[in-house]
Amino acid sequence: MRQAAITGWGKCAPDKVLSNDDLAKLLDTNDEWITSRTGMKERRISPVPVSELSHIAAARALACAGVNADDVDMIILGSCSFDSQVPNAASRVQQLLQANNAACMDLNTACTSGMYAMSVASAMIKAGTINNAVIIGAEVIHPFMDWTDRNVAILFGDGAAAFYLEAQDSEENIGIQAETLGCIANSRDILAVNGVGLKYANQGWPLGTTEWDFEGREIFKQAINGMQSGCEKALSKMGISTSDVDIVIPHQANLRIIEALAQRLKVPSEKLFINIHRYANMSAATAPMAIVEAVEENIVKPRDLILVPAFGAGLTWSAQLIRWGQRCEAIGESDVKLPESKETALEIIKKVAEIHLKNPS
Ligand code: ACO
Repeated sequence: MRQAAITGWGKCAPDKVLSNDDLAKLLDTNDEWITSRTGMKERRISPVPVSELSHIAAARALACAGVNADDVDMIILGSCSFDSQVPNAASRVQQLLQANNAACMDLNTACTSGMYAMSVASAMIKAGTINNAVIIGAEVIHPFMDWTDRNVAILFGDGAAAFYLEAQDSEENIGIQAETLGCIANSRDILAVNGVGLKYANQGWPLGTTEWDFEGREIFKQAINGMQSGCEKALSKMGISTSDVDIVIPHQANLRIIEALAQRLKVPSEKLFINIHRYANMSAATAPMAIVEAVEENIVKPRDLILVPAFGAGLTWSAQLIRWGQRCEAIGESDVKLPESKETALEIIKKVAEIHLKNPS
């Protein structure tokens, strides 16, 4: 049977670290509040746009799979922080990779974009439309963050992670085994970034300044409910329960959301993968980055069944059950890396904050 196996994985976490204490220099907040309410300790800030960050994660995923860029059939970039709308950002990734035979697609479902990209690529491979794909979940959120709003500014970070999926004819089930996707559009206004999108063009809105509609408590509740029902539906498609799952790798928006979800799904803490303290919420990059790290840290074992619930603006949700393959080690390593830059994370975001302060919305 034709399967879509994950045979390469890679990430790009910029080395510019923005700690909770750094944020307290800019906003009326503190490490104790952020840690106790969210579980976040630090996040990364990217010195380059999302296509360049994606290129590095993608190159690492290809090296991990031991394939050349020329062999890639499709690149799907899942994000909501594309550095260009026309042409799309995935085409820039193709150009940087020199993956000249690849079709290129941008995909935006906010925080779930990386996992939706995996879903689309997997289905296209199984259908025979393509033989392989690089999928990326990546986000560079800091340029459109409202750094004057402590309710949201503390929650997000930048990052990218990528997977190489390829067709394999095998009797063994491998890759995505069951999934559910959905959207609660009646709640789309509880998480909205005003100032981003073509409806703001020529309306006198200073480029780069935003105002976030963000009903944290309501999103909190809907995230738990949405991911719980998504997981239950995906599990029932396979006729299994969480006790049959080896590891749960959820979207990381708040440690308390993850813990409440785990409690409802009866997932013990030793089966939960958490890295929110290192990166905060990287939106589309979050779940893919967590999967990559769980593999790199030898937590994912050959043939493990992984449950990945995710949730984002829209409000979109997803839950995938992924059967890992036999190999958990990389075949090769890429030598691509981010360009040198001396600016600190705090210096970068102070510049963005100044633009907001000069242009109050
Ligand atoms: N530092 C200090 N105090 C703060 C901060 C801050 N950074 N932010 C808010 N506060 C204050 C508030 O002003 C409020 O003060 P008040 O009581 O005097 O009015 C107080 O802290 C409590 O605020 P709450 O909103 O009640 O805090 P809560 O415990 O609900 O936590 C949080 C807020 C962390 C945002 C939580 O609601 C949450 O995690 N929500 C979901 C997160 C989310 O939506 N992530 C995005 C998901 S979708 C996606 O991934 C795109």
